[in-house]
Amino acid sequence: MKHVAVVGTGYVGLVAGTCFAETGNQVICVDIDKAKVEKLRNNVVTIYEPGLEVLFKRNLREKRLHFTTELAEAMESCDIIFLALPTPPGEDGSADLKYVLGVAKEIGKLIKSYKVVVNKSTVPVGTADKVRAAIAEHATCDFDVVSNPEFLREGVAVDDFLKPDRVVIGSSSERATEVMQQLYEPFVRQGNPILVMDERSAEMTKYAANSMLALRISFMNEIANLCDKVGANVDMVRRGIGTDFRIGKHFLYPGVGYGGSCFPKDVKALIKTAQDYEYNFQILKSVECVNESQKHLLVQKIEAYYGGREHIAGKKFAMWGLSFKPNTDDIREAPSLVVIHALLEMGAEIVAYDPEAMGHVKQIVGDKVTFASLAEDALNDADALIIVTEWNEFRNPDFNSVKKRLKHHLIFDGRNVFDNHKMKELGFEYYSIGRPTCQL
Ligand code: UDX
Repeated sequence: MKHVAVVGTGYVGLVAGTCFAETGNQVICVDIDKAKVEKLRNNVVTIYEPGLEVLFKRNLREKRLHFTTELAEAMESCDIIFLALPTPPGEDGSADLKYVLGVAKEIGKLIKSYKVVVNKSTVPVGTADKVRAAIAEHATCDFDVVSNPEFLREGVAVDDFLKPDRVVIGSSSERATEVMQQLYEPFVRQGNPILVMDERSAEMTKYAANSMLALRISFMNEIANLCDKVGANVDMVRRGIGTDFRIGKHFLYPGVGYGGSCFPKDVKALIKTAQDYEYNFQILKSVECVNESQKHLLVQKIEAYYGGREHIAGKKFAMWGLSFKPNTDDIREAPSLVVIHALLEMGAEIVAYDPEAMGHVKQIVGDKVTFASLAEDALNDADALIIVTEWNEFRNPDFNSVKKRLKHHLIFDGRNVFDNHKMKELGFEYYSIGRPTCQL
């Protein structure tokens, strides 16, 4: 059993803290947000993440999970301190380290006995050295700094944390490595590796993983766009290439572009890191560029269908899905926002439905969009349905009811949710990404 402190109770911090408690450790989470800490202490989970609530409540009840606003209190008893702090992108795309280095400085002032300080936030290569220097400024005892990037996907973060494909530990101290290995041992019992490397390689691994995944998506989006032009079907092409074990079948789904808190930010940050070292990371610049255009693809298809933007004014669209992907309420960099803004600008009316994210979108668009409380209700009298996020509940609707409610039997699908041949049989005009269009 270890005493663990986690600084920052955002998405990563709360999942990490809860999962460390779940494996029997004593965990204290720190946040400067008093209201948030109060809620957490009172058994309220502050983020939406499937599976988290049960674990959170159990560990709180069994007194393995604690919350405070005082870093000093957390520092008193812990062996390990995780920094799970925001690193928002600055104007130039580089990650802003003010929170990470600010807390590192505080740790330096408060530290009284040996501790392992772990960077969990996604931070540029070289940050471990900066954190070490910031702590060392005031520290009067031994400490080590370790880089331990997370690879959590929103929506399955608890599972990803409890059963990771791998744990990456960037450490140049044997003492710290041993502490980290002991902490993570229960998570890798099924045989997945703990990879120990130097701090810079660990920091780079996180950016390389996310950039590679973003690259796969942008690549597949371009293949899909070309399929559209040459009359091929990207579903077939995806299967054709995904069965090659060197390529693999995951992350080959084309759509209206990637969003979320990680890919867009990390791709930008790695381009910036390359620039700082006078390296022109050409392929990554293209990944970003392709993704930006992909977010406009649905609107372009809609424009083409109606024969120009001037014909879109006054049309009413039902929109299914707002979050950047299913099983989350997160709308950061969500393609839905691009589609909404473009259609509103052309004078269209939008009635949207999303199982989790409507509140967040309402905060941005206010009354300009109408929100339906059921997916089906959004369809009433709409000229077409637009699908932007592939929530499971959209996969098998009552098509008769969809037809009755829609003014025209027309669907623009940005996530290839339906079988395009079946849609023709059902009597829909159906436009998707990289697959032959079903015209009636
Ligand atoms: C990602 C990484 O997967 C995770 O390891 C890292 O820690 C954080 O960033 P997340 O942003 O939660 O996780 O979502 P993910 O499921 O990876 O999807 C990212 C985006 O790619 C979504 O917008 C999704 O719709 C899109 N995507 C994913 C595709 O367009 N096609 C695919 O085949 C897969």
